[in-house]
Amino acid sequence: MEIKDIKKTAEREISLVKTLKELESFENKYLGKKGILTRILRSLKELNPEERKKIGKEANELKEFLQKEIERKRGQLQEKHIEEKEKKEWIDITMPGKKIERGHLHPITLVRTQIEDIFQKMGFSVVEGPEIENEWYNFDALNIPKEHPARDMWDTFWLRQNELKMQNSKLKMSQRLLLRTHTSPVQIHYMEANKPPIRIIAPGRIFRYEATDASHEINFYQVEGLMIDKNISIANFKFIMEEFFKEFFGRKTEIRLRPSYFPFTEPSFEIDVKCSICNGKGCSVCSYRGWIEMAGAGMVHPNVLKAVKINPEEWQGFAFGLGLDRLTMMKYKINDIRLFYSGDLRFLKQF
Ligand code: DAH
Repeated sequence: MEIKDIKKTAEREISLVKTLKELESFENKYLGKKGILTRILRSLKELNPEERKKIGKEANELKEFLQKEIERKRGQLQEKHIEEKEKKEWIDITMPGKKIERGHLHPITLVRTQIEDIFQKMGFSVVEGPEIENEWYNFDALNIPKEHPARDMWDTFWLRQNELKMQNSKLKMSQRLLLRTHTSPVQIHYMEANKPPIRIIAPGRIFRYEATDASHEINFYQVEGLMIDKNISIANFKFIMEEFFKEFFGRKTEIRLRPSYFPFTEPSFEIDVKCSICNGKGCSVCSYRGWIEMAGAGMVHPNVLKAVKINPEEWQGFAFGLGLDRLTMMKYKINDIRLFYSGDLRFLKQF
């Protein structure tokens, strides 16, 4: 075949090329290692000098021509490819954006920070303790005797890993691990690490092994309080508690102290707040008592101070444990504690 015929065929073929892949096989066919032109150029040496000159020239011209044509075609096809891609990935920049909804704090967190603010204004520091405790911190150091029902298998979440170790058993009973049943062990941690005077609150999560209903959950929140100094009396205690509840529920709020029992305080009290719904007359919210129990409290028992090597002759103080969930429920008039942990947005969006 003459070179000019090859050129004609090639021109026709390249005009029909529609994709980059087709272009590649076209290029191979003519200019590849075993391509038509490559073969011609290679076989030139077999020709006589005159023919070699003529065909060599023509073949080289065609090679250059095809190279240019291939580059031109490649440019076109690439442009087309990009255009098509853009068409497929087209976005409407005038379309309104997707609204990202902003979250907000959980009601328990809102109330916790509010409580922290009130106590910080009265000179209390906010501290934290671990959620996994051993029996010493959760019970012994708090003067809770061995036979106390809270230590029962059925009232507390014990950690199994440790039970196993106990069977092998070099561990003492008091080193058994559990999920703390109250925030009171933070008192012990803090007093071990710090000398009086002490003024702290310790908000945190606690765990109880119990059936859930509208007022019981297996985990909830408490705010522990502890004040240790010289000459601290029940009068100081009552003032601080009254001040807290007035700041929290409003200045008109009234509280009362009712005698109670806790192993780690002596004397011990329950703190009641006058029911704001019926103003003390009695209604369904306060179970017709007129008052609602809000906290356990009392003067720190000398045995607790001795357990952390603080001299009870020199230092005294009071402690209290507020139910954070209960306070939040009262504040926002929520009638089921389980709502806090349900993750139900219809509930949460109201705060
Ligand atoms: N730890 C107690 C409970 O969970 C609450 C409590 C009562 C805490 C009296 C105190 C206190 O600090 O003095 O029931």
